[in-house]
Amino acid sequence: MKYDLIDRNLFIKNRKKFMTQMKPKSIAVFNSNDIYPIGADSTHPFQQSRDLFYLSGVDQEESILVLFPDAHEEKHREVLFVRETNKHIAVWEGEKLTKEKALEVSGIKTTYWLEEFDKIFFDLMTEADTIYFNTNEHYRQAVETKTREARFIEWCKEKYPAHKWEKSNSILQELRGKKEPQEIELIQQACTITEKAFKRVLQFVKPGVWEYEIEAEFIHEFTRNRSRGFSYTPIIASGKNANVLHYIENKAQCKEGELILIDAGAEYANYASDMTRTIPVSGKFTDRQKEIYQAVLNVKKEATKMLVPGTIWKDYHVEVGKLMTSELLRLGLLDKADVQNENPDWPAYKKYFMHGTSHHIGLDTHDYGALKQPMTANMVFTVEPGIYLPDEGFGIRLEDDVVIQEKGEPFNLMRDIPIEIDEIEDWMNR
Ligand code: GLY
Ligand code: MN
Ligand code: MN
Repeated sequence: MKYDLIDRNLFIKNRKKFMTQMKPKSIAVFNSNDIYPIGADSTHPFQQSRDLFYLSGVDQEESILVLFPDAHEEKHREVLFVRETNKHIAVWEGEKLTKEKALEVSGIKTTYWLEEFDKIFFDLMTEADTIYFNTNEHYRQAVETKTREARFIEWCKEKYPAHKWEKSNSILQELRGKKEPQEIELIQQACTITEKAFKRVLQFVKPGVWEYEIEAEFIHEFTRNRSRGFSYTPIIASGKNANVLHYIENKAQCKEGELILIDAGAEYANYASDMTRTIPVSGKFTDRQKEIYQAVLNVKKEATKMLVPGTIWKDYHVEVGKLMTSELLRLGLLDKADVQNENPDWPAYKKYFMHGTSHHIGLDTHDYGALKQPMTANMVFTVEPGIYLPDEGFGIRLEDDVVIQEKGEPFNLMRDIPIEIDEIEDWMNR
């Protein structure tokens, strides 16, 4: 891992918050992700299960966390199982967690080797009535592979059919949505790395550069700042490519007069940042581009002010729709009749702005977090309106990551990333 050791008090606190919500005589199990295959002997780089990481800081494959607040023996209230390390593994794969290191990272005093799992788990299950399974209930999840977690659940249901089942997900959705100060600091670090990379890009872009060369500038700056890389597949979309919302090929040449929509963010210590900026290839916006850009920026600023305690995510989207509608009317892209005759399920503004405005961000880019309850302080959201004009060959989106405060406007973790028209032009022409 390239990132600095995280203060384990974060994970100690996270476990405590989870355990206070568990039922009496219940046990919760969290499995690491697999290392996923590519072909032959190649694999994707390992990415930890965000839930296991959130509760333990353990960033290693083949790991299991067991929480059992009512365990008869105190040492079994929090237990880690990790793959037994040895000299052979140390030579071929480098350092893996020893029992001492596992304690240092997680604050968990009891670590066993994975081979011992079945036996110890059986003993713990004889004391428990209920088991919490960790299913993925993210509102956008679409998982086709059988994860380690899913295999465990299947195995456990078969082996322990008389236990009651509960789900961890509702607890995790609520807890992970509300960030600890340490987590906000880590997201800030990710945003600051993104800032450095974007400033580098502002000075790099000129007519004739290729989208993939811009991607390379980002990764250069990310890696040298201890990031593992992009927190999601980056979109570097010049000209009309910006109108393909999930354009990730990044293979076109950027031409004089075009805009480039850049949706890219660094991860740091598994925490995501998510930024979008739209910049002119030649370093100067045309009047038409400025007009649309300013409209998007206006919506973004006004939308941000609505991210306060008490706001309901769905209602917020309705309000942002109204803001966007008034900008589109002002620009003449919609007329009054379009709005009067609109379908309430797909309002007129959706012709130009067809995606959501905000999502939780944290360990996942589209993070877990309550969406049906009122927003509260320390939730971290993106704000990302856009206007897409395929007929004019460009699209503009602007996106920052902000933290809801107890009072007043949210705190912008991307406050130092140029966004005003003058700032962008100034940085590009230095
Ligand atoms: N980059 C993904 C998103 O903006 O949601
Ligand atoms: Mn986003
Ligand atoms: Mn984004």
